Amino acid sequence: ATDLKGRHFLKETDLTAEEFRSLVELAAELKAAKRAGTEEPRLTGRNIALVFEKTSTRTRCAFEVAAADQGARTTYLDPAGSQIGHKESVRDTARVLGRMFDAIQYRGHGQHIVEDLAAYADVPVYNGLTDEWHPTQMLADVLTMTEHTAKALEHVAYAYLGDARYNMGNSYLITGALLGMDVRIVAPEELWPAPEIIARARQLAETSGARITLTADVAEGVRGADFIATDVWVSMGEPKEVWDARIALLAPYAVTMDVLHATGNPAVKFLHCLPAFHDLDTTVGREIYERHGLTSLEVTDEVFESVHSVVFDEAENRLHTIKAVLVATLVGWGR
Ligand code: CP
Ligand code: NVA
Repeated sequence: ATDLKGRHFLKETDLTAEEFRSLVELAAELKAAKRAGTEEPRLTGRNIALVFEKTSTRTRCAFEVAAADQGARTTYLDPAGSQIGHKESVRDTARVLGRMFDAIQYRGHGQHIVEDLAAYADVPVYNGLTDEWHPTQMLADVLTMTEHTAKALEHVAYAYLGDARYNMGNSYLITGALLGMDVRIVAPEELWPAPEIIARARQLAETSGARITLTADVAEGVRGADFIATDVWVSMGEPKEVWDARIALLAPYAVTMDVLHATGNPAVKFLHCLPAFHDLDTTVGREIYERHGLTSLEVTDEVFESVHSVVFDEAENRLHTIKAVLVATLVGWGR
């Protein structure tokens, strides 16, 4: 495969299908090496900046542990603790961080911000989630899928239910299209990805052989699926006033046991990037449930805690896949 040394990772389509698959393979190798205690640090002495304008548990920890495992250091800039965007332009910040660090991770709002960082920093820049895309999450999801099916990726079918005009919906659509998979977006039409993203997915499908379905019909969308995925119905950065309207639209798209049964596939697996509203143990969730007489939102606790659920494998895989991105872009494939 083409070497990824020096490359940015701002959205899934920055990679070819072959490069994407190679990163997932490298992640699997790094995971096995870590488990066997044979991991070799390839990033000794490197410094990585982690810029977060939104909160995070998994992405931040994955970058920090991945870097540490590989001998690199990280500096975390929290949502309030840097000048970026308010007191200093993204362009100037990029040029400063580019002089000090070997790579920069950015999580925040518009995709244009991470694109700007990449344009002005002379080092690899990684998108750790924007409003539009969550590409490092997709590497983890694809690794998780390969671990939980015996099928080749191009024979795998997955359905994403829920808010599909934000990062996770966009990323699931484009990733499946890129990799030649059977991808179904199951949502009310007003929450489908933007027309230009759907058009791009259809264009990718022409070369990859992907099957692309967008439907508002749950039964049709999930039939025969190997994986069912969802995400929160209101994302970071959206005003909390939208919850009521979103619940009204998306309640029929909650992932319940009935949805899993409707796949007709007893081995179906459940994916969620997390965090998830499935139980009563979050303050934000409790406040919303009380208003609507609910006990869960996008997924029931029954599904989340069932044998179908592979969400913690998926969460762990953030570590191994982000490590693969660091290794591949900073030193090359190394094999
Ligand atoms: N899935 C994910 O990106 O989680 P965090 O928001 O905790 O990083
Ligand atoms: N769509 C969610 C994903 C969180 C990992 C958000 O942007 O908040």
